[in-house]
Amino acid sequence: MPGHFITVEGPDGSGKSTQARLLAEHLGAIYTREPGGTKLGEKLRNMVLDPNSEALSDHAEALMIAAARAQHVEEVVIPAIEQDKNVVSDRFIESSVAYQGYGRGLGPEKILEISLFATQNLQADLIVLIDIDAPLAANRRGKNLDRIEKAGDDFHSRVMDAYRMMASDDPGRWVVIDGSGTVNEVSRKVIAGVESRLGKHARD
Ligand code: TMP
Repeated sequence: MPGHFITVEGPDGSGKSTQARLLAEHLGAIYTREPGGTKLGEKLRNMVLDPNSEALSDHAEALMIAAARAQHVEEVVIPAIEQDKNVVSDRFIESSVAYQGYGRGLGPEKILEISLFATQNLQADLIVLIDIDAPLAANRRGKNLDRIEKAGDDFHSRVMDAYRMMASDDPGRWVVIDGSGTVNEVSRKVIAGVESRLGKHARD
């Protein structure tokens, strides 16, 4: 039986990376992240998030993230799943749909198509959304912002709205968790939500 591929999504400032790490630790799963997860992916991540990359076009941004994803899937995710390991990825395709498709306005269908080309059609089995209201997320982001975090309040509201819409359109694949509590409170909810969906197989 193949390993489970779980992704954790949410806006910047949602505490999603901490939650993804805690979930992976609990499940004994491989933790990985996007953009990144490979040497090439981390280089592309630095280029995309560098606040000095001001000239980067929205289309180039989308394709650099897709290139990082293609490498990540081929080098990390597929080999792990083929060895029956569980994988938790801190962001995946749905980040691109939310940020580039809706946030940048490049269109969700086009971004999904590019993403599925990058992943050889691999999709997450389960997507955890850390849901948080915009003002709290903005507060948690603080002041030292990367290129995408700097994109403005309207951009970040479109991202959160897009996540909520995707989750409500496909409730069988999404688990929505209120991200407003303490790290431990949210983590307990994430773990309970994932285990109730995957049952005991999450630990296999
Ligand atoms: P992180 O800081 O949550 O790891 O994510 C890095 C940033 O990259 C975050 O602002 C969201 C952005 N991003 C996209 O815009 N599209 C994507 O497909 C991914 C994976 C991340």
